[in-house]
Amino acid sequence: MSNTPGDGAPILFESLDPPPRLLMGPGPVDVYPQVLRVMTTPMLGQFDPRFTNYMNEVMVLYRQVFRTLNRWTLLVDGSARAGIEACLASMVTPGDKVLVPIFGRFGYLLKEIAARYDARVESIETEWGSVFETDRIVDAVRKHKPKVLAMVHGDTSTTMVQPLDEIGRYCRDAGVLVYVDATATLGGHPLEVDAWQLDAVSAGLQKCLSGPPGSAPITFNDRVAEVVNVRKHIELGIRPQGVPDGPGDRIRSNYFDLPMLMDYWSPARLNHHTEATSMLYAARECARVVLAEGLEEGFHRHAITSRALRAGLEAMDLKLYGDPSARMVSVTGVMIPEGIDGDRLRAEMLEDFGIEIGTSFGPLHGKIWRLGTMGYVCRRSSVFRCLTAMEATLRRQHYITPAGAAVEAAYAVYEELD
Ligand SMILES: Cc1ncc(COP(=O)(O)O)c(C=O)c1O
Repeated sequence: MSNTPGDGAPILFESLDPPPRLLMGPGPVDVYPQVLRVMTTPMLGQFDPRFTNYMNEVMVLYRQVFRTLNRWTLLVDGSARAGIEACLASMVTPGDKVLVPIFGRFGYLLKEIAARYDARVESIETEWGSVFETDRIVDAVRKHKPKVLAMVHGDTSTTMVQPLDEIGRYCRDAGVLVYVDATATLGGHPLEVDAWQLDAVSAGLQKCLSGPPGSAPITFNDRVAEVVNVRKHIELGIRPQGVPDGPGDRIRSNYFDLPMLMDYWSPARLNHHTEATSMLYAARECARVVLAEGLEEGFHRHAITSRALRAGLEAMDLKLYGDPSARMVSVTGVMIPEGIDGDRLRAEMLEDFGIEIGTSFGPLHGKIWRLGTMGYVCRRSSVFRCLTAMEATLRRQHYITPAGAAVEAAYAVYEELD
């Protein structure tokens, strides 16, 4: 196979021109226009004082988003799992016990990442579509005495959100560190890092923060800083004279080495990677947009938008998935009705209406659709557009649903709130 046509001319393709879409899957979602705008602003050198000042501002902004006073609040470059991996790679020394309560796909991801760093992983599971009683997690912590409890907050694979407000307090008393993956909840669901006594939390931009994937805001407290600093090992070539290695086992990943990231993000400004400039601009702007709206106002918007969407779906006689008391407000799981080809409906919504909705993984594959109402997409017009398109595409598969009932039901929710 050749990389050039016969005449030797380069293969160029067309200049990029993606079709307009409304991204109503479980993420990525449409990006706030302000965020797209800042991404086209000029590069700065990574040690330009303007740029390092932006880094400091990012820390201040994300402390507010995470609701924490943690000094160590910064960005890991990479998609959300980069944040997960930085926390686990640095907090978990080979042989450490890590407990992972699993209620969906992303619990398995935590288990898998911890295992790659040679943790002794214990897990407990609950049926998909449900979450854990707090007592069950506390009992497992008591039984296994892990060094780290690693948990997902909202698992987009099942659309369920795990209450976390009491677990941290118990773990703090028991001397267990709590790590939380808040990728799908940060900015959309209440999350109180300090009040809930969560030691390390990571997220991504492409869900309720409505940025592009590629930057992972994380925060961790001094308890975590102390644990990871024992493992500090600065690369030769940038290591200041006379600085010895920490006594602990060297962190197995260079890229995800929190102590080196801390040196880069602190006044030491010790060079690590080259910060992803445009992604930092994006992350900074996402936080500004979310904070300017007000966190509580944003949570409320996510709650009422999913309520209106769900009223419309139920008016079409569609069944919502999972435990009603544990449903996320940013993603809705909908059972695919008997006799309906779920992939065909998704394809027609995309092709004919420009609306993307999500499929699902593992045991839920082919059983549910996942509809995201996150960030910029989380607005009234998205609800009406999505319900209209779903009604039309369902009817094309001879699904009987009263014309207009879905949109009427969504209107009723908004009118009740007006
Ligand atoms: C809860 C949760 N954790 C982690 C991830 C992984 O994120 P990424 O694909 O950005 O690495 C996702 C992505 O959907 C998620 O929903």
